[in-house]
Amino acid sequence: MSVTFIRGDITTLQVDAIVNAANNELRGGGGVDGAIHAAAGPELHAFCKTLGGCPTGGAKLSPGFNLPAKYIIHTVGPVWRGGNFHEKMLLTSCYLRSLELALRNNCKTVAFPLISAGAYGYPYDDALQIAYDTCQRFLNETKADMEVYIVLYQGTGERYVHALNRTASFELPDAATFQRVAEYIRNHYHFDAEDITPDVSIAEECARPVKSETRFQASGSVPQESKSLFSFNSKTRYMETDRDIFSKPPRKEDFPTEETFTQMVIRFMREKKKDAPEVYNCACLDRKLFSKILSNVHYQPKKYTAVRLALGLKLSPQETDKLLNAAGFALSRSKLTDLVIAYCISHNKRDVWEVNGILEDFGLTTI
Ligand code: APR
Repeated sequence: MSVTFIRGDITTLQVDAIVNAANNELRGGGGVDGAIHAAAGPELHAFCKTLGGCPTGGAKLSPGFNLPAKYIIHTVGPVWRGGNFHEKMLLTSCYLRSLELALRNNCKTVAFPLISAGAYGYPYDDALQIAYDTCQRFLNETKADMEVYIVLYQGTGERYVHALNRTASFELPDAATFQRVAEYIRNHYHFDAEDITPDVSIAEECARPVKSETRFQASGSVPQESKSLFSFNSKTRYMETDRDIFSKPPRKEDFPTEETFTQMVIRFMREKKKDAPEVYNCACLDRKLFSKILSNVHYQPKKYTAVRLALGLKLSPQETDKLLNAAGFALSRSKLTDLVIAYCISHNKRDVWEVNGILEDFGLTTI
């Protein structure tokens, strides 16, 4: 019972059901729809005509015909129109309705392409995150005995398609790093069980943020299992003073100043014996931006600027946590980009180019 990223051509997979990113008329099209129709053969087209179309966010079942998969689940994703037209709700619904249909038909293995992420224009990172979150949520909620695969195709194309063996498993020997990162995501992704409210309607469900920003470290709300990874425990200095603190006039010492982001960068540079050019080059940061950071003790960086600096300084996971924390950030266990970055940092991959390469491998926006 898990959700795993794999890469390649969905039409070649030997699973109980593959999901098709179809149109409302189920008449076949381009993209994955075209590939599925071409591989399944003309009988699929004839069968789809009998299904009476499919509403956006809904799902319909057909046999797999000439495909290795037993069934095809046809779902219709929303066309991206800027985000204010219930796109997220409808996309979530595609995954939920497809998984329900798979469950009702005793499917134990189901593979999804990234619905709406192609011709329908849904922003790729969000489409990926929604796919992963929704499938995880479904498995957590239903406890279904089902393996779900999210098949990434973008950017991989021919390079990997030929590596897939129709009859074999999902082993892709030339994509070992991808698989290791996918495994890391699977093991470390945090699904916030408190988010599950079975009686809530999809509309209410989808009005919530896609993911909860569960941090790898930091404050008291962190689940216990999160702490073993990036295990820096920040001291809650302001909370452990005596109860009378509010009855006395505040003194300067009652409000110790934390080391700022800039001060911490300078300290790490000193400790690691790195000069400015080495750091900004390794962090792929503009020299002017870097000197702006160093010259303003209260500089507030953007999150991924801080991450790049952590990479440029070759910080350990714990040091990375501290630096991000100083800027008010943390890597989230429920955000795919952050999980990829955490994988890289904890596996000694601190070259920004390499990290970006791995993000690109997943089709995620680079930092
Ligand atoms: N295997 C896996 N994934 C694939 C494959 C394949 N063979 N071919 C394409 N993809 C990926 C794309 O790279 C993209 O990430 O599937 C994702 C969805 O892209 P589209 O197929 O364009 O689907 P969508 O954005 O939902 O648009 C659906 O396009 O083909 C028409 O009839 C279809 O009108 C419908 C619309």
